[in-house]
Amino acid sequence: MKKPPLIQWYEKHGRHDLPWRNTTDPYPIYLSEIMLQQTQVKTVLERFYFQFLQKFPTLEALAKAQEDEVLKAWEGLGYYTRARNLHKTAQLTQGILPQTLEALEALPGIGPSTARAIACFAFGLSVPILDGNVKRILYRYFARTHANEKELWALANQLFEADKNFAYEHNQALMDMGSFICTRTQPKCRECPLELSCLGKELAWMFPAKKAKKPKELRHRNLVIYTHKNKIALFQNEENLLKGLYGFRQYSDELDASYTFLGEIKHEYSHISLRAKVYTKEVELNSFKAWFDEEEVESLALSKADHKALALLF
Ligand code: ADE
Repeated sequence: MKKPPLIQWYEKHGRHDLPWRNTTDPYPIYLSEIMLQQTQVKTVLERFYFQFLQKFPTLEALAKAQEDEVLKAWEGLGYYTRARNLHKTAQLTQGILPQTLEALEALPGIGPSTARAIACFAFGLSVPILDGNVKRILYRYFARTHANEKELWALANQLFEADKNFAYEHNQALMDMGSFICTRTQPKCRECPLELSCLGKELAWMFPAKKAKKPKELRHRNLVIYTHKNKIALFQNEENLLKGLYGFRQYSDELDASYTFLGEIKHEYSHISLRAKVYTKEVELNSFKAWFDEEEVESLALSKADHKALALLF
């Protein structure tokens, strides 16, 4: 019997050479799904996936690492909660990922869609996934302007029905379709294997309805690099966004003339545009607790904004 259109399309056009599609080891599959939650395939492939696996080749090795080391390997990838949760999960599972959806979803950093992606790709479960790309395809395929999470899961199941004997290919195909065919702007409906049955074809821009975008917070700060001789003071972040990363003090208040101006940096976070004036100040050793020389600073994980500030000092 002929395979369903999406499955045929995947066999012909899918990205079969992606490394996490050429392994049955659950750990690199899990790692790829976490990295790909908020980062593009290209970035993950070029700068992070292989390097991370080289440093932490197994879940046990990851469990034994210090959180600082894991954050250092994640440096530049952003959304650092992912790295901390990865580390926690490695420790909780003692080297073996569970195979049921319930147990996977109970682990830190693994939501319903990631649990299904891992269960499907690593353990052969026949279940659909629902990440951002899949949602966009569903809105269009079913010509929906609005849908809540529960409705989207129902649509995901509906689309999955015809392909459920090919769950692996179905889910991977949707990711590739989201990247190359059913793209956010200018989708290529003519090349889409689902064109015949798609209710939203050629009207793709209508589905989903555009949400009013929340403007980003424009944040002005004064950032200070405290020095003592050839040492630099670093502070470990306790705030959610960059928790665990090292960095410099930021102030909203104006600084007095005892601070030396180095320059300005800009950095874009997902919800914040940071504009910081960078200063340095030589202080006594006992002013702060944690001092590092240049080499030590390089071994720690700093946010991109702090790296930009540091570059002004050297
Ligand atoms: N994004 C999330 N998971 C993915 C996968 N397995 N392949 C390609 N892109 C993805």
